[in-house]
This record gives sequence, structure tokens and C-alpha cells, in this order.
Amino acid sequence: MADTTVRSARNILGAIRLPGDKSISHRYAMLSAIAEGTSRFRNFSTGADCASTVRCMQQLGAQAVRRPDGFLEISGRAGVLLQPDDPLDCGNSGSTIRMLTGILSAQPISCELFGDASLSRRPMARVIEPLSRMGAKISATDGNRPPLRIQGGGLRAINYESPVASAQVKSSVLFAAVQAEGETIFEEPIRTRDHGELALRAFGVELSRQKNRVTIQGKQQLRAIEASVPGDISSAAFFLCAAAIFPESNLVVEDLLLNPTRAVLLDVLRALGARISVIKIEDHHGELAGAVKIEHGPLTGLKISGAHSAALIDEIPVLAAIAPFTRDGIEVHDARELRVKESDRIATVARNLRAMGAEVQEFEDGLFVPGGQTLHGAEIDPAHDHRIAMAFAIAALRAEGDTVVRNAECAAISFPEFYDLLDKVAER
Ligand code: S3P
Repeated sequence: MADTTVRSARNILGAIRLPGDKSISHRYAMLSAIAEGTSRFRNFSTGADCASTVRCMQQLGAQAVRRPDGFLEISGRAGVLLQPDDPLDCGNSGSTIRMLTGILSAQPISCELFGDASLSRRPMARVIEPLSRMGAKISATDGNRPPLRIQGGGLRAINYESPVASAQVKSSVLFAAVQAEGETIFEEPIRTRDHGELALRAFGVELSRQKNRVTIQGKQQLRAIEASVPGDISSAAFFLCAAAIFPESNLVVEDLLLNPTRAVLLDVLRALGARISVIKIEDHHGELAGAVKIEHGPLTGLKISGAHSAALIDEIPVLAAIAPFTRDGIEVHDARELRVKESDRIATVARNLRAMGAEVQEFEDGLFVPGGQTLHGAEIDPAHDHRIAMAFAIAALRAEGDTVVRNAECAAISFPEFYDLLDKVAER
């Protein structure tokens, strides 16, 4: 893989529009494959992770076509997936393997799901546990790591209190439950992103929510939809954070996902001191979207903990990467989950910040990056983690000297257009 050199910038200016949200795209692709009829999606994610999901759904018998107008069309199998001939490759994608395990647990077929070296290290017991209780037979390395072998079918509803705050686990269980016999109640310790619930409703499923609890009846048939996927706010995070650190910046992100369970970043950037306004909010199948304008304001400091850490889990690397340019720094706790993402993100963030000359304190469940620090260009090893590569390309904009991001293309896991868009808005 190639390295990319990122030069420092003078400012961030312009208007951008981003490919569709990764979390929503995965769910739409999976649910359209079990729905009845042909679904059409505008602005479906362009990332490699969602391409892994689409390929898996094709191997399971769904037809997927990219139309010349850019729409992705998926023809569903009305509840009955095909026995695949070969193991299903989930690539680097935790969302694919965990949520697909839920879908497949309810199908009377046997499948093997595997992934790359990073995915093969990630914990799966969190989905194996509830799905096995529903009646699926799932085996894994040490009962916890991919590859997973699933013999599904004949699922029963459960009443489950999840010990982990994970939207992937919630969606996995709900995607099994909608095909199971009986009423499932799923309760999570903290309210996580609700794209699974909203997507199920969009496909015609009835479910109810009270606080952190979702109740869903089984044996509901999904119906195809036409939908527009709002721009990915976790991808926008890199640009919003870049704009926040340049005094003359002015950036507009159009058609951006503003689902309240995902938009905490905007509150946090405001609390830091950035000036943010939101214009034109629209509703796409329950998912809110709008245009966001961000301008610099003097950045103070932040403490992120508790439910905020869960809500910002994908944005913490880039927040940490801009923390040296704040006045008081950023301190993160209750973010142990970062250690089991595509890389150990607490360790990879700390190591790369230190490579750029920053002082960092690492905790078991987070880190503290003091403010008022100057960074110098360095060689960044993102450990094949897309969000780490992009976070340090942003830190590099305000470093002294050039930064080389090794294996920079790993950004394509979620955001292939990242470096081109950065060149477009970074004034040098
Ligand atoms: C996701 C949930 C989060 C997040 C991941 C996408 C989702 O993972 O980090 O990038 O789409 O549900 P967890 O559910 O494991 O926290």
C-alpha cells in the first residue's frame, strides 16, 4: 500500500457533500436483501466496508446493481436467503460480521463468516451469546473470534439485557428477532445509535421503544424502500475538526446526517468553542439530515466520559488528534471499547501523537492530551486503521513540516474520497 504526504495548511474553506453514512448503508443493504421487492438507494456509502456487506448479500442470493445514475438497487429474497457456496468475506468490517450473524441466525442454512487479520482479532461473543440463546448454533475461535460458523433457523424470541453498549449488538439481535417466533425485548445499558430501529421501521416493521428498551414482534415481512442516505457524520468529523483548528476557517457540509444519536460531535465542538449553525433539516425515513456550517472560535478544553464516550466512539481519535491545538486539552474516559476497534485506538492515537512530538497520558479506558502543544511532521503508522490514518492527516494540517501517513489508502475502508476532498478544502 502507498504512503501519502500531508503538507500543513493555512486554512479550511469551502462546501462539501459526503458519501452516505456507513452505519445506515450496512443496515439498508442487509434489510433490503431479506425484504420483498427491489429497494433503491441514493448516496449509498462508497467505503470498502459496505461493499463487503453488499458482496455477502449477493452471495446469499440478493441481486445488487449500481445504476448509471449512481443509485444502488438491491432485489430482496422475501425472507428466504440462499445457502452460499463459499465462506462469506467480511473484510475489515465489524458491522458486517456482527449484524449479518444476526440475519443468518434466523435462516435455515449454514454459513461461514471470516475477515482480515484485524477483524479476526475482534470480539464476537457479544453477539454469539444472545443469538445462541435464541437457538442459533454458532462456533468461533475460542468462542469469541472469527471465523464464525453459523447453523441458523428455528429462532425463538428472547428478553435480553445487553452488558455492552453496542449498536452492532442491538441491530444484530433485532435483525434476528424480526425473523424469529415471538416477541423479543432488547435492553441496552446506554442508548446507542438507533439506525437499526429506524431502518426496520422504514422497511415496514413495527417495533416500540421506551428509553433504552426495544420491543419487536417476530415473523414480520419487510417491504422494499426507496431511500436517500445522508452524508456520513463520522467522515465529516475529520473536516469539522480540521475547520475548528484554523482561525479563518469557514466550511459548509451539505446533506449531513444529524440523527441525534450520532450528532453529539456537533455539541462537543460547540462546547469546545467552534461556531456551528445548522440549516434546512430534512427527514429521510426517520433519519435527519441538514447542512452544517462551522467556523473557528477559540478552542478551550473538554472532558468526555460516560454516555458521551459511547456516542462519540468513532470520533474520539480525531478529537484527540486536534486536542494539542486547544487551550486546555481533551480528556477521555469510559472509552475502553476503543481498544477493540479496527486497532487498539487508545494505543495507536497515543503512539502517533507522541511521534509528532506531543505529550499524551494513556489510561486503560481513555487518554488525556494536554492543550497548547506544537506538533511537528512525522511518519504516521495507522496500523491499517482507517480512522487513525484520517485523524493524523488532520493533525498534520497544523504541524510544522510534512507528515507521511503510511499505508494511507486504508482510509478507503470508510471514505475513499478523503484525501481528494481534503486537498479541495485545505488552503496551502
Ligand atoms: C457501529 C457501531 C459502533 C461503531 C461502528 C459502527 C454501527 O460499534 O464504532 O463504527 O454501525 O452500529 P459498536 O456497536 O461495536 O460500538
